[in-house]
Amino acid sequence: MKGVVLAGGTGSRLAPLTKITNKHLLPIYNKPMIYYPIQTLVDAGINDILIVTGGRNSGDFLRLLGNGKEFGLKHLNYTYQEGEGGIADALNLAEHFADNQPICVILGDNIIEGSIRDAVTAFKQQGRGARILLKEVPDAERFGVAELRDGKCVGIEEKPANPKSHYAVTGIYLYDETVFDKSRVLKPSRRGELEITDVNNGYIREGTLEYSFLDGWWTDAGTFDSLLRATNLVAETEKKRGNVNATA
Ligand code: DAU
Repeated sequence: MKGVVLAGGTGSRLAPLTKITNKHLLPIYNKPMIYYPIQTLVDAGINDILIVTGGRNSGDFLRLLGNGKEFGLKHLNYTYQEGEGGIADALNLAEHFADNQPICVILGDNIIEGSIRDAVTAFKQQGRGARILLKEVPDAERFGVAELRDGKCVGIEEKPANPKSHYAVTGIYLYDETVFDKSRVLKPSRRGELEITDVNNGYIREGTLEYSFLDGWWTDAGTFDSLLRATNLVAETEKKRGNVNATA
């Protein structure tokens, strides 16, 4: 399975931090944000990875990551998103790279404590369709929200004012090769973006979307509060694991 990290967009919610650099290069505790989603893929055994970036500082990704040696990779692939047409617009740029194989897509600002290995295994057994990862959260209205009925996900709403559940759709998605047929035909939403939620609802209509629950903590890092939360969670976890000196 191939992996895709989506790190385009302008990060306007983090201005002025994002005025002179890309959001995904900002620090989360002791590493740049983009390190975490790459590590999540590598930990799940995914070594063929495409980074979709954009904006004025895209060259900095290459300078920072090179061929991915720090992650034990031999090679990294890069592509460039013009503008900020949305998550599904960024995903469309991965079609050539995916080459009709299943992919694991992760948003460049999604950071997790645990592993997605079990979900990847479950998706391989599933054979076709899509699998999303859900997490129970207190502020579901900030996310895509899954409506669950009798063990099935029957619909996803993007940032609903009145969420139908507490289950946020995290920014980690497993797709079969039909994903680009579904995303290519999307129309921009009210906020002018091609929405990943519409891609997932396409799989729901087809009856091929499954879900797993994500173990451990999960956060995005696209607002000042979530950026701080991400740093605090990573710091606590790294200290607990003995990876850094607690008094340093
Ligand atoms: O974090 C999970 C949530 O991410 C999901 O629950 C939502 O369903 C999904 O729409 C998304 O919501 P956000 O509003 O938080 O997405 P945001 O615009 O912050 O973009 C998240 C990442 O996606 C960003 O760090 C990089 C990538 N992206 C985004 C846009 C708009 C791109 O690569 N290109 C883009 O044009």
